[in-house]
Amino acid sequence: MKKNFALFATVAALGMTACTEAPKENWTDCVLDVAACQLKQTAIELTDSTAMPMPRCTWTGYDVDFLKRQLEADVNVDSLHPVPGPERLGKRRLCGIVDWTSGFFPGSLWYAYELTGDEELKAQAVRYTNLLYPIRQLTGTHDLGFMINCAYGNALRLAPNDTIADVLIETAETLSKRFDPQIGCIRSWDFGKWNYPVIIDNMMNLDLLFNASKLSGNKKYYDIAVQHARTTMKNHFRPDYTCYHVVSYNNDGTVESRGTHQGKNDESSWSRGQGWAVYGYTLCYRETKETDFLQQAIHVADMIMSRVQTNDSIPYWDYDVPAAAETPRDASAAAVAASAMLELSTLAPDGQKYYRYAERLLKNLSGKNYLAEKGTNNGYVLMHSTGSLPHGSEIDTPINYADYYYLEAMKRYLDMQK
Ligand code: GLY
Repeated sequence: MKKNFALFATVAALGMTACTEAPKENWTDCVLDVAACQLKQTAIELTDSTAMPMPRCTWTGYDVDFLKRQLEADVNVDSLHPVPGPERLGKRRLCGIVDWTSGFFPGSLWYAYELTGDEELKAQAVRYTNLLYPIRQLTGTHDLGFMINCAYGNALRLAPNDTIADVLIETAETLSKRFDPQIGCIRSWDFGKWNYPVIIDNMMNLDLLFNASKLSGNKKYYDIAVQHARTTMKNHFRPDYTCYHVVSYNNDGTVESRGTHQGKNDESSWSRGQGWAVYGYTLCYRETKETDFLQQAIHVADMIMSRVQTNDSIPYWDYDVPAAAETPRDASAAAVAASAMLELSTLAPDGQKYYRYAERLLKNLSGKNYLAEKGTNNGYVLMHSTGSLPHGSEIDTPINYADYYYLEAMKRYLDMQK
């Protein structure tokens, strides 16, 4: 940790970015100042990393007894990621362009540019977005929406040209090949024990399909998105509107199994999954105006507001874990929910309560417990997210998608103040 921080601090001291030192009275100005400084500095520092160009998180370790206490069960040690050695622990973990999180750093640069008007952030956003060009033909994953829409989708909004539109359309075509009409869903993963796994996260890829449908005039992408959302609504949710992480299907479309991969156990409610759900159904209503999608988003949002019991509303990594001082939060789940609920507040009849909840999340994320100080946190904006605790992976660490959805939420919030 120390060595990496030293590198970061040295580059900052060289004055390669203009991070102002004075704290801002207005909390949103302070957030933008921190985000612009952290992201720009990171972009500069990674200039020479070609094989692993994107920042993903900070390397973390774990203790197996701690994992057992969190899971309130024994641990399958075969499924654990190795604890990183001392040369990695606490340092920035990078990833390649085929990683599911590769779109978030370029996307964060786009939001930071949009929020500040800083042309250097734009230049870096263009540079990191272009690295993802080969992903449009990647066939082995459903994460293409995360990877391409967060990067190229924002590029199209902020620096439009025809090439960008073509990338989005070609990627949607690649993703659509993972849709099985008999099952009515896009297949998520090609690994593991399941026949046809579909994870709730997959709802986040639908924005890419809706965008590509509008850009190309091809309704096929729209129809796939709507069918995927309907099938998921039918099979992923419990009567209390919490959702399973993984639903696997038989080839005839019947459900093979319901369970989890990253949550505490099969019947628990994994925090980020609940965030993906409210975000996914909100976007589906925005694009289709199907009231069933709006009702689903409202039910999930209400469930989140009643189930998150922490004093600052930033959830523990799963809703069903022990409420203990050692239990890690997941700031990324809060950032996703904040962004979704701001949009939902503009669509739902009783929108004010979602606006107020999202504002509370954003203010708490922007306080000293979660927002990094400039020059720290390996260049990430937020602290305290959790990737996959049952695998011993990314526990209580900064993660690039927390930053992305936090900045998206800030953008939505500031637009609503105008
Ligand atoms: N899509 C994987 C995750 O949310 O961790």
